[in-house]
Amino acid sequence: MSAGAQGVYPDHLRADVDAYLAGLRFSQEPSTAGLDEAMRYSLLAGGKRIRPVLALATARAIGRDAAEVMPLAAALELIHTYSLIHDDLPAMDDDDLRRGRPTCHVAFGEDVAILAGDGLYAEAFRLVLSEQQGDPTGILRAVLELADATGVSGMVGGQYIDVAGSAPAGAAGLRRIHELKTGRLIGAAVECVCLLEGMTDTQLTHFRTFAHELGVLFQIVDDILDVIGTDAALGKPQGSDERHGKRTYVTEFGLDGARDLALASQEQAHRALAAAAPGGAAELEQITDFIATRQS
Ligand code: IPE
Ligand code: IPE
Ligand code: MG
Ligand code: MG
Ligand code: MG
Repeated sequence: MSAGAQGVYPDHLRADVDAYLAGLRFSQEPSTAGLDEAMRYSLLAGGKRIRPVLALATARAIGRDAAEVMPLAAALELIHTYSLIHDDLPAMDDDDLRRGRPTCHVAFGEDVAILAGDGLYAEAFRLVLSEQQGDPTGILRAVLELADATGVSGMVGGQYIDVAGSAPAGAAGLRRIHELKTGRLIGAAVECVCLLEGMTDTQLTHFRTFAHELGVLFQIVDDILDVIGTDAALGKPQGSDERHGKRTYVTEFGLDGARDLALASQEQAHRALAAAAPGGAAELEQITDFIATRQS
């Protein structure tokens, strides 16, 4: 996925993430080997690795070595994979294809899929707390952000609003769903690295604005792809949102309107990034354009 219509993507960082994830094992005894298998089935099924790649690129943008933040980056992908497993469950979006494979519950049963998601979430925190090097205060601030971004004020809260249909009507309500269910974890990929590295709140402000906008942009494009993509390209079922009567940027603004808003969001993200990294941040710029133009 390096160049072409989808824009450039820092594939070298993605390869580093894939290699690290492939080395992870979660089970210590034969009786839980089947759970480890289900967790690794979903984790290693591919995927763009946008969240960990963003974390590594953020480290480089602030002058650090990407490898230094790999446990934190991998933890983001464990959490993201858990969210996908649960999002696909029959009680949620009831989808049977993910990352080009049968979803976890189709392959292993609903009971094991629920546990695989639970396991990935806890193992993510174990990974950061046991393997991530750095100043303990920075690690604690990063872990707090990770918990906050995935809890009721973050991803899980957003998923609740999505399934309960409890967002206020209109554009602001829709944006709120996207900020929470997708934006917070994408934002955390940038923010956690800044926090780990001891950045002050003032320095963090522009990175936060960038990360926040990138998260919303990501989900606007996800909504568009749900309408115009194909199962084969997406690796997940096209039309899932319409089947479930979901509120999306396309239902609210139409395809052209959603595309215009994605463009505005992309420009906004670039402006914030320029303020965050005045010396330039080539890989973060690439990821921004990739997120805006991706077709999968
Ligand atoms: C899909 O995320 C779920 C959303 C938050 C919209 P991705 O599009 O990043 O999925 P993978 O990781 O590449 O499979
Ligand atoms: C899910 O949004 C966001 C998550 C927290 C997983 P979607 O339901 O739109 O994600 P996809 O389209 O199934 O990947
Ligand atoms: Mg969903
Ligand atoms: Mg879904
Ligand atoms: Mg979707």
